[in-house]
Amino acid sequence: MRIYKAKDYADMSRKAANIVSAQVIMKPNCVLGLATGSTPIGLYKQLVEWFRKGDLDFSEVMTVNLDEYKGLSRENEQSYYYFMHQNLFDHVNIPVENTHLPNGMEPDSEKECRRYTELIQSLGGVDLQLLGIGHNGHIGFNEPGESFDKQVHCVNLTESTIEANKRFFASAEDVPKQAYTMGIKTIMQAKKILIVASGEDKAEIVQKAFFGPITPQVPASVLQLHNDVTLVADEAALSKLSE
Ligand code: PGA
Repeated sequence: MRIYKAKDYADMSRKAANIVSAQVIMKPNCVLGLATGSTPIGLYKQLVEWFRKGDLDFSEVMTVNLDEYKGLSRENEQSYYYFMHQNLFDHVNIPVENTHLPNGMEPDSEKECRRYTELIQSLGGVDLQLLGIGHNGHIGFNEPGESFDKQVHCVNLTESTIEANKRFFASAEDVPKQAYTMGIKTIMQAKKILIVASGEDKAEIVQKAFFGPITPQVPASVLQLHNDVTLVADEAALSKLSE
């Protein structure tokens, strides 16, 4: 694993955006696996800025997002569909038909998970998968204890994830209880993985996930087994690593 140490959130965002941008320049029709959450927002802002300057072209890029809440429509401001349009898709020249997320409104989990798994395969797999890391080590919505062997599936969100996400909803009751997510196996099939982490509150999990034992109890620890992983984190998020 490569680790890039950034000074702060802005620096982390720029360094990570550089990696995404290199991918798009090297392979204009690449498949980007995208993530939501607060951490990648600065990275997306930077990509938009470079697009506006004429340095980046998304016209052939294809995207597949990691996950989506089950039961939220595209119009719901908390849906990941909404988030991606708000933070990236609406501001760059990516054709909307090239952007993909699980369909949160499909009630038939089996059908939706099959569709999304097949879609990713039909695109030829993910060239670069962007990931954030949850305080409990989750990646996508793969919570502690989840088998490493799953493709896209429907999950019940844990209390800690509902707790962490409730800040975005009127109350904890409004946070959806299920989500569709790429499984660990899907994530591990990406050719390259880029993880971003920022802030002292992530320091402990960064240390555990990348320097502790590989265990389903810390889903992100599986990334130690991937042969092309880059972690871009700020000093605060790296503060628990010994030299
Ligand atoms: P965050 O979420 O970027 O909002 O901290 C990360 C995650 O839960 O994957």
